[in-house]
Formats: sequence, C-alpha cells, structure tokens
Amino acid sequence: MEKKTFYITTPIYYPSGKPHIGHCYCTLACDAIARYKRMQGYDVMFLTGTDEHGLKIEQNAEKEGITPKEYVDRVAKQFQDLWKLLNISNDKFIRTTDDYHVAAVQKIFKELYDRGDIYKGEYKGWYCTPCESFWTDTQVKDGKCPDCGREVKMANEEAYFFRLSKYAEPLLKYYEDHPDFIQPDSRKNEMIRFIKQGLEDLCVSRTSFSWGIPVTFDPKHVVYVWVDALTNYITALGYGSGDDSLYRKFWPADVHFVGKEIVRFHTIIWPAMLMALDLPLPKQVYGHGWLLFGDGSKMSKSKGNVVDPLVLCGRYGVDAVRYFLLREIPFGADGLFTNEALIGRINADLANDLGNLLSRTTAMVEKYFGGTIPALRESAPIDDEIISMALELRKKCDEAVDGYQFSVALTEIWKLVARANKYIDETAPWALGKDETKQARLAAVLYNLCEVLRIASILIRPFLPDTAPKIQEQLGASADELTYEAAAKWGMLPPDAKITKGEALYPRIDVEKEIEALNRLIPNPAAKAEEKPAEDAKKPEGVAQIGIEDFAKVDLRAAFVKACEPVKGSKKLLKLTLDDGKGERTVASGISKWYKPKDLIGRTVVVVSNLKPAKLCGVESQGMILAADAGEDDVRVVFLEDVPAGSKIR
Ligand code: ME8
Ligand code: MG
Repeated sequence: MEKKTFYITTPIYYPSGKPHIGHCYCTLACDAIARYKRMQGYDVMFLTGTDEHGLKIEQNAEKEGITPKEYVDRVAKQFQDLWKLLNISNDKFIRTTDDYHVAAVQKIFKELYDRGDIYKGEYKGWYCTPCESFWTDTQVKDGKCPDCGREVKMANEEAYFFRLSKYAEPLLKYYEDHPDFIQPDSRKNEMIRFIKQGLEDLCVSRTSFSWGIPVTFDPKHVVYVWVDALTNYITALGYGSGDDSLYRKFWPADVHFVGKEIVRFHTIIWPAMLMALDLPLPKQVYGHGWLLFGDGSKMSKSKGNVVDPLVLCGRYGVDAVRYFLLREIPFGADGLFTNEALIGRINADLANDLGNLLSRTTAMVEKYFGGTIPALRESAPIDDEIISMALELRKKCDEAVDGYQFSVALTEIWKLVARANKYIDETAPWALGKDETKQARLAAVLYNLCEVLRIASILIRPFLPDTAPKIQEQLGASADELTYEAAAKWGMLPPDAKITKGEALYPRIDVEKEIEALNRLIPNPAAKAEEKPAEDAKKPEGVAQIGIEDFAKVDLRAAFVKACEPVKGSKKLLKLTLDDGKGERTVASGISKWYKPKDLIGRTVVVVSNLKPAKLCGVESQGMILAADAGEDDVRVVFLEDVPAGSKIR
C-alpha cells in the first residue's frame, strides 16, 4: 500500500535581515509536526525557503554597494545555516530567485493574463516603503502606515491587476464548505469580515523597481510580491516545470503555517489565485501568534529588536531553545519571550523533571544491579497508574499533534515525567535496596521507570531530536524498542538491556548570573541591563606614541563565535569559526590553557580583521582575536556585550 502523504510549509521569509527567533518559531513548529508525521509513517514533504525579491532587498543591497543577488545569497545562507543548526528537517528549501521558480511564475502570470484574470490598469495609493505595501485612504492612519506606523507617500504607476473582487463569493462559499480551512476559528471570522467589506482587485506588478521577476510579455514590469511569493508552495513541487511528479504527489498541501499578519494573503489571495488557475486549494492555513517581548512589543526585523537564536543555542543548546519555543506558547496565541521564562523552563522542565528522572533511574540501576535489571520482577498495585498513563500517552500526543497543539503534546509528556518522579518518592527504591528480600520489587520499580523513559523518549524525539537519542542510549534500548508502534507497548525493553548513567542531559543554570549575562546580550526592554560607567583610560608606559592614522590601519571588528574546537596536534591553539558580519572566517588563537570551546561559542569577540593570514599548526588563521594579559599566566579574552557581528571598533 502506498504511504499517506503529508505536505507542510512555513512562510518563505524575507532575507532583508538576519533570521531571528520569530522565524525560528514557525520553522520549529513545522519541523516538530513534520518529524512526528514521519514517525507515524507518513511520506512527508516539509518546505521552507526565502522570498528574495522586492524593493527593500534592492535598497539594502544598494546601501552595502553590492548587487541584490549577492545580498540575498548571503542572507539566504544565514537562514540555511540556522536551520541546519536547529536540526530543521525540511525536505526542500526554495529561493524565489531559483531559475525553476522564476520560469514557473512567469508561466502562471501569463496564464492568468490569458484567462482574463490579470489585466492592465493604473495603481494609485499610499505607499509604505519599509513594508512594501500600498494602503487605501481608510487604512492609512494620520498619514502613517497602519502596520508599522511610519510615514506613507502617495504613489501611482501603471500596473497589472488580479481580479480578486471576482472571488469574494466563491471564497466565502469555500470557507463555509470547509470549516477547518482557516485555523484558529477567530482568524476565520476576521477573514469573513474582511471579505464582506468588499474586495478590491490586487496590484500584481510594479515598474518602480527592477529587483523582481520580469513579466514576459511586458518586461518593464516585474511581478509584485504575492504572485511571486505565494506560488512557491507549488513551484517548489515542480508545478509549471517539466517534471511535476512531486506536485501531483503532494498537492494540495495539508497545512500552511503562517504568522497571523499574513493569514489574509494565504486565505484570500492565494485561494483566489488557485481558483483562477483551476487548481485545488490547500487543506488548511494555520495562523500562529507572535512572539512578543516582556513589554508586549513585537519582535521584528524592521524594529531591530530581535533575539539572535545563535546566541541562545550557543549558551543552552539547540534542544533547550526548541523546547522553550514549542512548549511555552500555545500554538495560535501570542506568547511572551522573556529570558526569565526561558531559563525557568530549562531548569524546571529539562534539568529537574526530565534530567533528574533519567539520572536518578540510571544511577539506581547501576548502583543496585550493576546496570542490568534482573528479569525476576514483582509488581504491585501502585504500578498500575503509571503504566496506564504511559500507555495512553501516544494517543494523547497524536491528538494534540493532529490539532497542531504541540505545546499540549509536550505538556502531556511532562505530566508522565512528573508522575514518574513522584513514583520514585512513593516507592522509595533506596529503602528497597537495603532489604535483601525486596530485590524483585526493586527490579520492578526500576524497570517501570526505564519503560516510562523509553516511551517518553520516543514521543519526545520529534521535538527534541538530540536529547531523545541520549536518553535511549543510556537506557540501552535498540531500534525495535524505539519505534512509533513501540510507544504504545509496555515491556519492550529486554531483560539484558545494558543501562548506564551518562552525562547530565541539561546542567542546571545559575539563574541570577545567567539573567544578568543575557540581559546584556539580548535586548529585553523589561529588564534593561544597567550601563557601567567607562573607566578612565590610563596611559600605558614604555610604548611609542602613534598617530590616529596608524591606529586607523587596524580594522577591528566585532565577531560572533559560531563554533570552536581544539586544533589537532597543538596544546595551545583553539580554532574559532567567526561570523564577522560579512561571512565566516577562521582564526587560531593560543588560549586553550584558559578557555574551553564552550566558554567561547555564542559569545562576541574582537577580531583584527585585516591581519595578513598565517598558517598555525596547519590551520589558516585569518586574523587574531584580542585578549588581555590579566596577570601572571592569566589571559582574558575581550568579550563584547550587545554588539552585532561586523560592528567596527575604533
Ligand atoms: O512575511 N513572532 O516574510 P517575513 C512569531 N515573505 N513569528 C514571527 C515573528 C514573531 N515576532 N516574526 C516573524 C513574509 N515571524 C513573507 C511571507 S509567504 C508566501 C511570504 C514568522 O520574513 C511568522 O511565521 O516577514 C511570520 O508570518 C513570518 O515569520 C514572516 O516572515
Ligand atoms: Mg513580516
């Protein structure tokens, strides 16, 4: 029998600035669902990508003196690298500058024109440059953009229009016939109201900038934003190309995950375009909420108040960040991002609840039974509750995942984890361990705990893909005991499983110290770090004076440490991979006596960026990082707080 398919997508993000935690949120949500569905046996297509055309990109590139293509190549790579770091399991990454997409969009545009659903007219309206949006009189508030609050200006140009107005009735009818098309329901009501106010035809081309896909039959026009962007969901599958087998296999999508601000485009414009093309509509559009800061402001690129996911992953590990974002915020609602909540979750849920359950269990199996639980086990009535909870867990997770409520799935898993910790207190294995006659009972208790951990680890895996295998390894479980099917079966762990206490899954974090450090690194208006008064610079003795022009020859830059490892064959050297704002560079530094790689990853250092490259122990070092001689045989690296990579230091 052929496998059932499942097609899920993120929005394609604008590479107009570095990716931030808001982008991670939606991508992680899709990833968790995609992984879960694969585990259930679905043939999954998980798509993400970048939306690379438009005026803003053109302007950003111009500011830097590079071509738009060079600009998007750089930022698209940052997105791709970040998804790799976050263990995102996307099957495809589409860039709207990809040839196949460009060709397919041109074909679709022409087809809509030939069918009479695109026509030439003139566009007039209030234009907000940063948002790349035209607004009507009623939408503009006091001459300001209703989205971002900045000045708008009157603009008009010859343009092509899509007959959106024609689709008001068909759309309303579609919503009625497909009550689950727009989720959550509150967003559906918004869309119905919006359509009932009357739909205007949509401007789908521009002549005022050139960084876009040319209209083949009128090349001074480029295709404007939404026809280019929305069609990615089908062009990525080969629609409009020579090979549309993936399109035939996966379309219509099961769900598009999008932020609530673009639900309108996905539930009005996109279905109308598909209707005009006579193509099936996606089964569902799920509008998720926004990540907000503690003071309620939205995190956004254009406001520059974004949390850098690299910093968080560097400090806590990828799974901690994944866990926080997936657990903290019910999908669909807005959620607060605070450093306190993040660290609170890591300590309470990951280090305490899960981490302790594993370490207590494996430590006791080692201590009392040398790592193998005896097959002779004596059960007791108190075991029933925890066993039935464990056996019901998969169904609960399935239901939550079917409704895209992964925070609920995680809550259910953690209920079992908490119950298991309580079970340890109730059964007091340390007391059983002292009593020769209670060995069979002790064996049962520890076996039950291992089984709970085995089942939990299977269901945790789509959410925490690095953590689950660590648990499974410590349990000595093998592949057959770790399948989706095995998550609903008790007693799978064989009697000869070799159980070992490994490293702690998540070390506890010193909250106060960490919050202080984080508040300095990450803009958090709710808890602004206090500024330290600068110390008076003292004149060093015995060094020749230089003029400012000599100093100006040294190009000092802030650089973010993305990775770090010891240099093979050297006792002194660490090899650092730096993001200097423009790209990656490697620097070797003789500091391994004082620093471990983990002390440096995720931090920002100062690099002499125009130093001639030198080969050190086989590593080409492209610059050097600054450090202070902080006393006899003590060296301290100069760290920067709150400074973006690439900033010039002078
Ligand atoms: O809108 N909280 O791209 P975009 C939660 N290219 N999610 C957030 C967020 C936040 N603070 N900030 C961004 C575009 N997101 C278009 C889409 S689709 C055919 C074209 C997430 O770079 C959220 O999913 O502005 C939002 O919808 C998306 O990033 C917008 O990314
Ligand atoms: Mg946006």
